[in-house]
Amino acid sequence: MKGRYDIYRQRPGETRGSRQTFEIETPAGATLLEIFHAIQADVDPSFAYRYSCRGAICGSCAVRINGVAGLACKTQALPLAEKGVVVVDPLTNLPTIKDLVADFTAFWEAYDKVRPHLERQHEQHDDRLTWRDKLSAKHLDQLSRAVDCIKCAACLSDCPKRKLMPEYIGPQACVQLYKFYFDPRDAAHDFRVAEAAAPGGAVACDSYTNCVKVCPKDVRPLRAINFIKQDLASRSK
Ligand code: FES
Repeated sequence: MKGRYDIYRQRPGETRGSRQTFEIETPAGATLLEIFHAIQADVDPSFAYRYSCRGAICGSCAVRINGVAGLACKTQALPLAEKGVVVVDPLTNLPTIKDLVADFTAFWEAYDKVRPHLERQHEQHDDRLTWRDKLSAKHLDQLSRAVDCIKCAACLSDCPKRKLMPEYIGPQACVQLYKFYFDPRDAAHDFRVAEAAAPGGAVACDSYTNCVKVCPKDVRPLRAINFIKQDLASRSK
C-alpha cells in the first residue's frame, strides 16, 4: 500500500516550518527510516534527516512519530500507515536545524556539565576488581541500563519539565550523573551531589515518566533519578 506521511519541513534560518505530505509505497518490513530514504531518493533530494547505523545503536535517527519520540530505524512503517496518516516531527526541546534534524548543542552541554566520566585522584589498584561488590543489586541493574544509553535525546525531547524549565539538565544528563554518583571509586562525589541538588539538577525532575516510556533502550532514566533523589533526601535527615 501507499502510506501517507505528514512531515515537518523547515529550511535553515527559518524560525517556523511548514508541513508536507508524501505518499510513499510502504512494503511490509520497511522501517520509517527507509521511508525517509525513499522520500529523499525519489521525491525530494533536499529532505533532511539524520541517521547512521540503521540498527538502533547510534541514536541519530530519533524523531517524533505521531507525537512520541522514537527511533525511525526501529519503527515499522506499515502498521502505522495502515492506521492513517503518519505524522513525523523533529525532536522537541531542541532547536531545529533543517526538516527533521535537531540541533544537539544544548543536549551535549548538559552531558558535559555533569562530567560523565570516572574521576580518580590516583590509581587504586586494590579496588579495580572489587568495586562492583560494593554496589547493591538494584544499583548494578540500573548501572547496566545506564550504559545502554545511546544518547538519542528521545527522553529530553519528550520531557515536560525540560519544556517548562530549560535550565533542567534533563533525563539523559541525569542518567550520566547517576553512572558515577554511587561509584565508590569516584573522587568527584561531592561535585555530583552538588550537581544533583542544584536547581537544574536531578531534583528538578517532577516524575512525568515520559522518559521511561520513550527510551528505546529501557534505560529507565526516572529510576536513576529517583535513586539520586533518595540519596539526597537521606542526607538532609
Ligand atoms: S540510525 Fe542509528 S539508531 Fe537509528
